[in-house]
Amino acid sequence: MAAKIIDGKKVAASIRLECKARVASLRERTGVVPGLAVILVGDNPASALYVGNKVKACAEAGIRSFRRQFPADIDADTLIATIESLNHDPTVHGILVQLPLPEHIDMRRVLKTIDVAKDVDGFHLYNVGGLVVGDTIFPPCTPYGVVRLLEYENIPVEGRNVVVVGASNIVGKPMALMLMQREATVSICHAKTRDLAQFTILADILVVAAGKPNLILPQMVRSGAVVIDVGINRLPDGRIVGDVDFEGVRQKAAYITPVPGGVGPMTVTMLLFNTITSAERTAGIASRAVVKEEVLLEPEG
Ligand code: GUN
Repeated sequence: MAAKIIDGKKVAASIRLECKARVASLRERTGVVPGLAVILVGDNPASALYVGNKVKACAEAGIRSFRRQFPADIDADTLIATIESLNHDPTVHGILVQLPLPEHIDMRRVLKTIDVAKDVDGFHLYNVGGLVVGDTIFPPCTPYGVVRLLEYENIPVEGRNVVVVGASNIVGKPMALMLMQREATVSICHAKTRDLAQFTILADILVVAAGKPNLILPQMVRSGAVVIDVGINRLPDGRIVGDVDFEGVRQKAAYITPVPGGVGPMTVTMLLFNTITSAERTAGIASRAVVKEEVLLEPEG
């Protein structure tokens, strides 16, 4: 039987409605309007497109956005000074620096400058550490979106074999931590993994974020698996595809996400979600949405 296609657009639309209602309620109760600063350095067309989508989505949800654009040859100190000024701006509740940055800029130094309370991308070391111990304020948006898709489809994670293909700081590593926190048995594969299929075939849930079209073929997937494709690749003919052979794998899987229209719409949505959470925290409202993940192993004593 062919897989159920997980409709990321539909799930994203329902969470965005929820976001809009939270913005309206916050505004009504406290006068606070959530604000997101988005910093773009250079002229990478994909980054410019993503930033444009984020700004547009903010407007639709009632979030104020502040776009800061710099040429590729900007010096790091100017960028740092901009972030410091946004850190002190009370109308800004979230700060996002679109990645990748040009090579001459030390990305770690830049991300470390963002106030942890405004780090809605979840990339600051403090928030990364929070993810490790299961107590994070801002889960990174793409893996958070994947978790929400699984929840929406009532796909259990606990005790299941999850294989994550790709070990990036943005997707693969936080994805693995979030699923481990939910008591899945997680394996992480990456570019140096020998015989990838030997791992993927064991997956009840396979999450692929490697950036390689057709990396995952039907013979690498267990019958009845859940396949989440995080890849976004542009083919020479202009088509956008993921990392999974969608037509082949959908004949074997129980669930599959399409590209486009799967995980993609969820990333921006969870950014809105985190920004609103940040504004609610600043306004002293305990958000029902704050993720307080349970610590898997309590310390002894
Ligand atoms: N580049 C690719 N994905 C992301 C993301 O989720 N956040 C930021 N800031 N940059 C990215």
